[in-house]
Amino acid sequence: MFNKCVTVIVGTKWGDEGKGKIAARESKDADIVMRGTGGNNAGHTVIYNGKKLALHLVPSGIIYPRPTCIIGPGVVVSPEVLLSEIKMLKENGVPNVDSRLKISGRAHVILPYHKDLDELHERLKEHPVGTTRRGIGPCYSDKCNRVGVRIYDLIKPLNTLKGKITEATKLHNQNFENNGMKNCVVDAQVLSESNSALGKLLRPYIVDIGPIVEEAINNNKKIVVEGAQAYRLDLDHGDYPMSTSSNPVTAGSLCGSALPPQALKVAIGIDKAINSRVGNGIFPTELPASIDDNGNLIEYTTPLEGDVIRELAHEYGTTTGRPRRCGWMDLPILHSAKYTCGIDVLCLNHLDTLGLVGLSLGYIRVCVAYKYRGKIISHFPDDIEVTGEIPKPIYKTLEGGWSIDSSCRSYDDLPELAKTFIRTVESISEIPVKYIGIGPADDDLIVREDI
Ligand code: GDP
Ligand code: IMO
Ligand code: MG
Repeated sequence: MFNKCVTVIVGTKWGDEGKGKIAARESKDADIVMRGTGGNNAGHTVIYNGKKLALHLVPSGIIYPRPTCIIGPGVVVSPEVLLSEIKMLKENGVPNVDSRLKISGRAHVILPYHKDLDELHERLKEHPVGTTRRGIGPCYSDKCNRVGVRIYDLIKPLNTLKGKITEATKLHNQNFENNGMKNCVVDAQVLSESNSALGKLLRPYIVDIGPIVEEAINNNKKIVVEGAQAYRLDLDHGDYPMSTSSNPVTAGSLCGSALPPQALKVAIGIDKAINSRVGNGIFPTELPASIDDNGNLIEYTTPLEGDVIRELAHEYGTTTGRPRRCGWMDLPILHSAKYTCGIDVLCLNHLDTLGLVGLSLGYIRVCVAYKYRGKIISHFPDDIEVTGEIPKPIYKTLEGGWSIDSSCRSYDDLPELAKTFIRTVESISEIPVKYIGIGPADDDLIVREDI
């Protein structure tokens, strides 16, 4: 039998629900914090010494002195980004980064040609995904094609690394040549030399994580898995092809962290009381906003509903700075997320923001069901691509809004309208709301101990 000692943090929509904040908070008393999926397409905000830090690869638990932080085998890693993140953490006074950070030698390496391929694929597509252009998809593609370069390869002899890169780039170089990107054709000698040098810098962090995980599980130590991306961006279960290239659902995060499913204690779903998406793809509760087709802000004098939410929630990408598309909370998606991600309890962030939106607009809405193909449904349908029909949200409207001040520390202190909203979330999603986010810091959180 396995000790049940693993907590998974999982995003329930299209990312940016506030996973970093909860992952950091859960890590305070954890022994190990891990990332198992994605790469530096993720941008997780944490507050350290009153300052906002954006983490793209290093697990958020790094801001507390106790946990060992592991980048698992399922992650794709840009060595440059990782090294600059380590530097940033040290410059901000985060303690013992070198002794606490570990990276699995099995994680795959994002090389410059992956970013170039990301650009190329997006450019050639009739319907681009709107990726973060970080080379995530092409890196995972190489991994699946068994021509990926792993972190272990960076510390092998130079010629071995050069051979790997030569093998990987045979087809890519033809693509670059044929598509007017001759400047991107890879010189395997140059690239292996630069990455061998990066490998030397990363060497102290590289480990076999198997024995670490084994010891932790056998001694019932607390392990937190910090999900990146989210349910609707999942390669298998999300809005394919407008998805990312990994499996951010709970099972994918466990797999990418080399953790056995039997060790799972609790999966905490993270959602927010407003809704956002960055990049292209379906978004049933999206509100009109002053954003053009390329995702750029249009100057406006009178804000549209989406502008109101974006500005009050500061919805700008943590990784790319792109303005996020905004809308109302969507409970059918959350309902579907419950089952696909095995969510036990919910953290509902941005309750403060929703209240301000209500005060600004005079109302708030929450999507409680969809009208789809002539029927009322309470889950996210699977066949949208076939029918070409966008589920039409059915809203519950609450008149007014609320503001939450620092005296509000328990569920009972919340304004009645906010409690009505939370009860609606619980009844449609069938997930108990244990955590309520009322601000960006990890203790701007109401915890319902009775759940
Ligand atoms: P992640 O990718 O899921 O970790 O989320 P991001 O860090 O990309 O985006 C979440 C944003 O919301 C960050 O700017 C957080 O500081 C902020 N945030 C998180 N929870 C709350 C909350 O309860 N209220 C408010 N006002 N901001 C929050
Ligand atoms: P966190 O962990 C929001 C989106 C991109 C794009 C699609 C594919 O901070 O929640 P990719 O670069 O992964 O190939 O892009 O996925 N995307 C995210 N959106 N938050 C993220 O991560 C995201 N990671 C990827 O915008 O639509
Ligand atoms: Mg983010």
